[in-house]
Amino acid sequence: MKFDTPAGPNPIDRMTVVGKATNRIDGPAKTTGTAPYAYERHDAVTNPAYGHVIGAAIAKGRITAIDTRAAEAAPGVLAIVTAENAGKLTKGSFNTAKLLAGPDVEHYHQAVAVVVAETFEQARAAAGLVRVDYARGQGRFDLAEAMDGAKMPSGDGNADTRLGDFAAAFERAPVKLDQRYSTPDQAHAMMEPHASTAAWNGDELTLWTANQMIDWGKGDVAKTLGIPKDKVRLIAPYVGGGFGGKLFVRADALLAALGARAAKRPVKVALTRPMSINNTTHRPATIQRIRLGADRDGTLTAIGHESWSGDLPGGGPEVATAQTPLLYAGANRMTALRLAVLDLPEGNAMRAPGEAPGLMALEIAMDELAEQLEMDPIELRIRNDTQVDPMKPERPFSQRQLVECLRVGADRFGWSKRQAPRATRDGDWYVGMGVASAFRNNIVMDSGARVRLSPQGVVTVETDMTDIGTGTYTIVAQTAAEMLGVPLEQVVVRLGDSSFPASAGSGGQWGANSSTAGVYAACVKLRETVAQRLGLDPATADFVGGNVVAGGRSVPLAQAAQGGEIAVEDKIEFGDLAQKAQQSTFGAHFVEAAVNRFTGEARIRRMLAVCAAGRILNPKSARSQVIGGMVMGAGAAMMEHLVVDKRFGFFVNHDLAGYEVPVHADIPHQEVIFLPETDPMSSPMKAKGVGELGICGIGAAVANAIYNATGVRVRDYPITLDTYL
Ligand code: MOS
Repeated sequence: MKFDTPAGPNPIDRMTVVGKATNRIDGPAKTTGTAPYAYERHDAVTNPAYGHVIGAAIAKGRITAIDTRAAEAAPGVLAIVTAENAGKLTKGSFNTAKLLAGPDVEHYHQAVAVVVAETFEQARAAAGLVRVDYARGQGRFDLAEAMDGAKMPSGDGNADTRLGDFAAAFERAPVKLDQRYSTPDQAHAMMEPHASTAAWNGDELTLWTANQMIDWGKGDVAKTLGIPKDKVRLIAPYVGGGFGGKLFVRADALLAALGARAAKRPVKVALTRPMSINNTTHRPATIQRIRLGADRDGTLTAIGHESWSGDLPGGGPEVATAQTPLLYAGANRMTALRLAVLDLPEGNAMRAPGEAPGLMALEIAMDELAEQLEMDPIELRIRNDTQVDPMKPERPFSQRQLVECLRVGADRFGWSKRQAPRATRDGDWYVGMGVASAFRNNIVMDSGARVRLSPQGVVTVETDMTDIGTGTYTIVAQTAAEMLGVPLEQVVVRLGDSSFPASAGSGGQWGANSSTAGVYAACVKLRETVAQRLGLDPATADFVGGNVVAGGRSVPLAQAAQGGEIAVEDKIEFGDLAQKAQQSTFGAHFVEAAVNRFTGEARIRRMLAVCAAGRILNPKSARSQVIGGMVMGAGAAMMEHLVVDKRFGFFVNHDLAGYEVPVHADIPHQEVIFLPETDPMSSPMKAKGVGELGICGIGAAVANAIYNATGVRVRDYPITLDTYL
């Protein structure tokens, strides 16, 4: 089904199942530990062996020798795979660094070998007997040092943007701000580590693997191994969190496959937590310069945003300027991304890549400008709202309720009680409120699905779409139930298998809208087939209460499949509607924070997000997505920080003891309000995504609340007590 004109009325609009707060179908399996993860597929493979990955002990240089003799002689060892005996490998399309190093080493803990043994303990013990000699090279690990040599990165969306005459407008602006902000390297820190189980059947490889994007992963495994794509099957029905860290296959998948081929046995590989942090990927640190110029009434006349980040050779930037061309009006503007070469582990996408750190800076800058203007920060944002793309005024936003989000939030949160910095006390605590805009674009991706109708009337949906904890099972079931007029319990959803139709996958907050639109397309086709079989007019047939109703007749749906199961497949293919109107999601974050006047301890007291993000398919799972993003943003604001060892080039705090993330006690009260919205430009679902919106802006709202509490402005994240004492 092509989607190239705005959606008209359709069965989803009934909203009898879609749009209802619905418990996650996979919830009981996940919370009782019965949802099998990639490492736990004892049901699927027999007699698996265990692989232990050895990571490079240097960040840059060369392997001069690998001596595996002692390890080979160790108890239980079945195979040891290194670049020397792995056969020809081609780097995949998505990874920046190779998944198996040798002879060159590109980053610390890049895999250099996998040791396969009968047991996990034997594999780990033998790995300690592998001797690897290195010639250490000179690496670059310090962004502040490397930024002078940084260059404009190639690639779509990385070019400088300009409108009007920024320099002149900034020069003559009566009120201006010119500040530098920084955000650190951050880790995805998902619960389920990177893990895979691999099994070969002749020349066919099956990988049970923790992955967000099944079709991308299948293609990249095939490319890396040099085998046809149709010889590779990826399976990931349950994924324990990803946040971008599982967008692409990682060393666990490749080394499980290579280990299984060498050992002639199914092999399981899980990366340890330290390996996960230095072996895979992280969100790169940024240094950002923001210049804002405004008239005395708060009208922005000049907006300038530059950001520096680093990555391995061939890598990409953290696109921290992404939202700045679109968020506020302003006649004169510029953005610039600069990318330095750093030999740290690969930088790549993490939840709201670019937007999250970019808004952490821009939305502090707006707070600072409001203070200079002696203006309420909400009023400043409202004054500079725009209903069109500021860079292309002929291009409107399909929906934009930023002002409504700010106003509703201010009212609900009690914003009018906010006082001047350091003016509110509660016992030993200074108390402050902060606000920030949330803004993330809506991306659409083609997505396919198959729908089956059984003679018993059971509807089964199959798609390679993943559920990474987001609620996909549930919204897919809601979509099919709505389309076919059956109760939710009559729908079976099967996900995360590359033998099902390829979907949009879970990334970039496009998953919910795009994948359900694919299910919608397949259901439209099934409705036509069913109506025809029942001799009803497909154009007018309505599917309600388990019946198909048309022309005064009502026939049970299941009757269409009496002659045998019906299975149809289709996909949604998106045209260029997204070019005609800017599709985005908006929100406003409100935070109340308290800082102890003696110890400097900072605590969040309450948080509110008001969001406008198209039709909300399941308010319960959507809320979970937003509060999850808010928690992650609170972590980014106050704790999360991968500390770089600038001598040896690795992240020092490479586990969940050293890499601190928020726990329940850090987040006492959260509330989310979704404003009514349907967006006919986004898809037949008229929905958008919220998976990344929640983390956008929240870090700055926390920072602004701490400023309002203490009167101390911190521009380098994370804001720990030593930064403002
Ligand atoms: Mo997201 S960072 O595209 O999983």
